[in-house]
Amino acid sequence: MAGLAKGRKLKIALSTGGGDAPGLNAVIRAATKTAWCLGWEVWGIQEGFEGLIDPRRKLVRIDTEDIRGILTQGGTILGTANRGNPFKHQVQTAKGAKEVDLSATVVRNFKKLGFDALIVIGGEGTLGLAYQLVKKGIPIVGVPKTIDNDLPGTDITFGFDTAVSVATEAIGRLHSTAQSHRRCFVVELMGRYAGWITLNAGVSGGADVILIPEIPFDIDAVCDKVLDRERRKKHFSIVVAAEGAQPKGGARVLKEGATTDHVERLGGIAEWVAKEIDKRTGKETRSLVLGHLQRGGTPTTFDRLLATRLGSAAVRCVARGQFGRMVALKTPKIVSVPLTQAIKRLKTVPLDHDTITSARSMGISFGDRLCASGKGGTFARRQAAVPAALRQGVGSRG
Ligand code: F6P
Repeated sequence: MAGLAKGRKLKIALSTGGGDAPGLNAVIRAATKTAWCLGWEVWGIQEGFEGLIDPRRKLVRIDTEDIRGILTQGGTILGTANRGNPFKHQVQTAKGAKEVDLSATVVRNFKKLGFDALIVIGGEGTLGLAYQLVKKGIPIVGVPKTIDNDLPGTDITFGFDTAVSVATEAIGRLHSTAQSHRRCFVVELMGRYAGWITLNAGVSGGADVILIPEIPFDIDAVCDKVLDRERRKKHFSIVVAAEGAQPKGGARVLKEGATTDHVERLGGIAEWVAKEIDKRTGKETRSLVLGHLQRGGTPTTFDRLLATRLGSAAVRCVARGQFGRMVALKTPKIVSVPLTQAIKRLKTVPLDHDTITSARSMGISFGDRLCASGKGGTFARRQAAVPAALRQGVGSRG
């Protein structure tokens, strides 16, 4: 047991950072219950690392009442912050906003409060900060979280399964309207750099075109798929696009002027794709953004179980004195890996992933190739084969 006296009753703290994800509360509950069974004291640091900058206001002891009924609740009872970077803490001065390094304050407060360990539940950004704090002497165990599933070092992150389920249901529900109105729909899903949610929900929900950041798309190829379906008398199409998807040679679509802790906010790709399809094919096309609905609500059974296993395992890591590590799912086991594994790069969808191969084999388009099955070799020829009324934009409008 490195650095911890065996059998000693410990005082540990939990914190949740970055965007919320379904299952955060399940981790908090599992970690707390496991620690209590060892006779330990558990505290919650509110709003990510912010709580250690101002512990008088943002530190709470976790009691039985606090965790009652939270297994099924989305969000986090501790609150979270996207701005919680103690190395670049924002302060307002007479001359405007300024960044100051308050990491020493965080370390000092952690020690002054008598904590033995900190369990940090977060994604790449939060765990990156956790690693820097480990180097400054805080004994930390990380728990991987993100609906995007883009953290390396673990097979799957909790929150992902719930996000995929929500997105799949939404795509499923769109089918009836798309079919009844003979429309095309473009649905924007979350996923800044990785297309896991869009790929899995697109395939599970029966999308016709899947656009992910890993495969830059050609808008002509997207339109080609819509027209190919039209020619086959399938008068509706569903396109799903990850928020980080981008056209070949183009850039990701950003929400104007919006940044969160220096991270640009994405949004608008579905609207852009929908306008282009409408313009180029004449097919009535609508867009919608599923947004934060994917992050909210009760976690699926899979996420509850994974979050519970990770939360409990994190406490066992603390008991063994294994710090600077992250608990992770290496199917079928929960193991621990160095924190550095979680932050070295993002886990994007490999282009040879079997889900992509299967999707392509079934005729799903990734917007990077013209349809192999249609008449004519060029997009222009295929477009010409579409009924004139539809090209003029009156085919499906009603
Ligand atoms: O990382 C999770 C995530 O939901 C991304 O998919 C998305 O780009 C981002 O968070 C949105 O963050 P915010 O809620 O801060 O705008």
